[in-house]
Amino acid sequence: MARILTGIQSTGTPHLGNLLGAIIPAINMSEDENNESLFFIADLHSFTTIRDKDLLRKNTYATAAAWLAFGFDTKKNIFYRQSDVTQVCELSWYLNCFTPFPMLANAHSFKDKSDRLASVNSGLFTYPVLMAADILLYDADIVPVGKDQVQHLEITRDIAGGFNHTYKDSFVIPSTKVDEKVMIVPGIDGQKMSKSYNNVIDIFLSDKKLRKQIMSITTDSLDISDPKDPNQCTVFKLYSLIADETQIKNLKTKYISGGYGYGQVKQELFDLICAKFKVEREKFNFYMKDTTIIEKELIIGAEKAREIANNVLTRVRKNIGY
Ligand code: ADP
Ligand code: TRP
Repeated sequence: MARILTGIQSTGTPHLGNLLGAIIPAINMSEDENNESLFFIADLHSFTTIRDKDLLRKNTYATAAAWLAFGFDTKKNIFYRQSDVTQVCELSWYLNCFTPFPMLANAHSFKDKSDRLASVNSGLFTYPVLMAADILLYDADIVPVGKDQVQHLEITRDIAGGFNHTYKDSFVIPSTKVDEKVMIVPGIDGQKMSKSYNNVIDIFLSDKKLRKQIMSITTDSLDISDPKDPNQCTVFKLYSLIADETQIKNLKTKYISGGYGYGQVKQELFDLICAKFKVEREKFNFYMKDTTIIEKELIIGAEKAREIANNVLTRVRKNIGY
């Protein structure tokens, strides 16, 4: 039995990149009989940047609603909110004392974020250590993440290896699982889709707003009559990530033949998203209308998570000598 663990930061409603790059592959993996999955909402990580309590809570619910809407089985698995298991903060401290300063200073996600923010707090700097604690606290075997998180996983493995070297058998060293097929989902401006770049496609918006987002995808200025290169087009890239082989082939022909405009292609992408995610979009709205169901799920999940966390923490404290 392999234990799969992954977290998603609650910095907004999960966008198409989060869904295709993290949530859907993780749920698919959790359906395997031989796996036990722990999925959590990383709301302590969100606290590195969010200072509005209503927003923090709303984001947590929106993130949870997305997992539930996409069919995550909370009975078979464990679904919880990071901040409900405070043991992670204790472990994070132990790991901090085992983390070489330059390793964090060189983390590209820190460099990237600190360049963009007006004020940079230490939480942002030690972000990968809390992430290591998230993983090691539960003896996770496999951590499915998007490509951008691979360096954080390397950091986790390094910290755990260093710790185990001094205190034998403290942690399970996790392996990373990147879905190679999906890679990086582009945003409406063509660069990586991210909440921080303001370029997301939020499939949970109303039809009208979602359509507006899709219509604003940047394209080149070729005329309707011109033949177009599908491989250079963000709309086509997004379409290919969701469509089946035949649909992709048909759209490719339209690009190459010419006489087909970007407005039409965008409409096809919109229709495809609506058809493909019809049920999930409805379920999302259902959960968001009354969040007591989400709250109940998270409380049950936290209880299950705490049981594992306490066992691991007892082992680690004993090894350290506390
Ligand atoms: P954001 O960049 O929007 O803040 P997060 O950093 O919260 O997204 O990412 C949550 C999860 O979704 C991670 O596992 C990440 O690798 C994945 N992810 C985020 N954006 C993308 C993307 N554009 N393509 C593929 N996966 C993504
Ligand atoms: N840092 C991850 C992200 O932004 C979220 C995260 C927090 C996570 N803790 C984790 C992912 C542990 C996997 C395992 O996407």
